[in-house]
Amino acid sequence: MSHITEGGVQRITAPHIRSRKGGAPIVALTAHDYPTARLVDEAGFDFILVGDSLAQTVLGYESTLPVTLDEMIAHTRAVRRGVRRAMVVGDMPYGSYHESPRQAVESAIRFIKEAGADAVKLEGGSRRAPAVRAIAEAEVPVMGHIGLTPQSVLRMGGYRVQGKTIEAARELMEDALSLERAGVFAIVLEGIPVEISRMITERLCVPTIGIGAGVECDGQILVFNDLAGLNFGHTAKFVRRYLNLKDDIASALERFAGDVTGKRFPAGAESYHLPEGVEVDLEDDRGRSMPPLGPVN
Ligand code: KIV
Repeated sequence: MSHITEGGVQRITAPHIRSRKGGAPIVALTAHDYPTARLVDEAGFDFILVGDSLAQTVLGYESTLPVTLDEMIAHTRAVRRGVRRAMVVGDMPYGSYHESPRQAVESAIRFIKEAGADAVKLEGGSRRAPAVRAIAEAEVPVMGHIGLTPQSVLRMGGYRVQGKTIEAARELMEDALSLERAGVFAIVLEGIPVEISRMITERLCVPTIGIGAGVECDGQILVFNDLAGLNFGHTAKFVRRYLNLKDDIASALERFAGDVTGKRFPAGAESYHLPEGVEVDLEDDRGRSMPPLGPVN
């Protein structure tokens, strides 16, 4: 198989992710901006999701519902600029695929053409199968997302673990199979019991990517801000925090402000100086122009 390369680097594609079913776990993270995307890509992650979680983590909305397709495209473009190897997945926001399969295809194509995404993701089970089929037929790799789907918050009446009854678990299994039949190359399982995600993972031919769905998925994803401790709201039980960036930033801000008010910043080494031997007495030179100083150290 020939590969897509960029600057000599082999890019990860949807068929590659698809082929990882049952193999080495797929490692993924969200990124919403250029520096985060660069770091995640350089750390060797398999794919980067420009998740609509950016509505809350970056844009300060209460839920993911208000974020627009234009906002998602702008952030996906920034992430694309920071990534050479990982697959970039654009998250289709609420309202960009719910009206018709045709609307879904138009939105998906915008992610590819305007943002340079490699794939898109959308939320929902069987009732999204026609949209998934239409997007896949338009040659856009599409990832599913079932379980605790944040775009369904109004219908669910809150962010609740899904699949906790036999009927609900059966429905989740049917959702997963119907998305697979419709052509997804992978499915995110969010907020469901480990026992159910294990059964879904065993039944599907495409990889499952877990977030709050236990260790037996084919891969795992977290939201960058959760992993880095840069969030302000409630932290879900499934999050493992590897940093405490919010506190680190708060402490850096306090120290900077203290240095400014205490006249400890900037130091001499952080300031520009006249070249040696040049002395300027602005009082005496009033009215005359200064000689050019040359490069300033
Ligand atoms: O928007 C997002 O960040 C997501 C992940 C939680 C999978 O959809």
